[in-house]
Amino acid sequence: TPPFILSPSLLSSDFARLADELAALEAAGLSWVHLDVMDGQFVPNITFGPPLIAAMRKTSRLYFDTHLMIERPERYLAEFRAAGSDLICVHAEATVHLERAVAEIARLGAAPAVALNPATPLSAVEWLLPQLDMVLIMTVNPGFGGQSFIPFCLDKIRALSALRRERGLAFRIQVDGGVTPDNTAALLAAGADVLVSGSAFFGHPPYKERLDVFHAAADS
Ligand code: DX5
Ligand code: ZN
Repeated sequence: TPPFILSPSLLSSDFARLADELAALEAAGLSWVHLDVMDGQFVPNITFGPPLIAAMRKTSRLYFDTHLMIERPERYLAEFRAAGSDLICVHAEATVHLERAVAEIARLGAAPAVALNPATPLSAVEWLLPQLDMVLIMTVNPGFGGQSFIPFCLDKIRALSALRRERGLAFRIQVDGGVTPDNTAALLAAGADVLVSGSAFFGHPPYKERLDVFHAAADS
């Protein structure tokens, strides 16, 4: 199986001990952390925004993989970048001018990414692929941790991987929602490079051992 990045979704961590959680991730050998920003509009849940990310930035050197589940994200891109986001991912469904948002993220010096909800076709992003560092294929309807993986999304990952090969592009494919050691091998075989895991990661400390479980699952 090809190498992959595990990006733990901080949504399932202990919010009262964020600095400790970030330090524990680094100590366990992780390099990315997935930050789920929710606005109570695009998704039926509210989490955190730029001030909290800025506070975390002071204590952590992890790669801040920022998943914006907010309406009209173009309003806040500069703020997220200033707060310390390394990658900024906007939903295709959340903005009318997706190309403009992607170009703005790149202009700000962050890695641009686009997320697609399970029911959104790949065609929503296909003309932008050359401009993207990553495409996020949602494998649950966003809003909450701990939901079950939606099986048809596996075909969508395969189709995106095929498109990437045909076009000779190098963007990463990220998968988010219901990822577990049990479906890790299938996701990687389908073409995923970055796996987000919330409940299936943070629910099973210690983190170093849990990372090993995902790596072992990838090789099985
Ligand atoms: C869902 C979020 C995910 C979530 C994943 O709206 O975008 O990042 O935290 O959690 P699990 O891995 O528990 O499905
Ligand atoms: Zn997410």
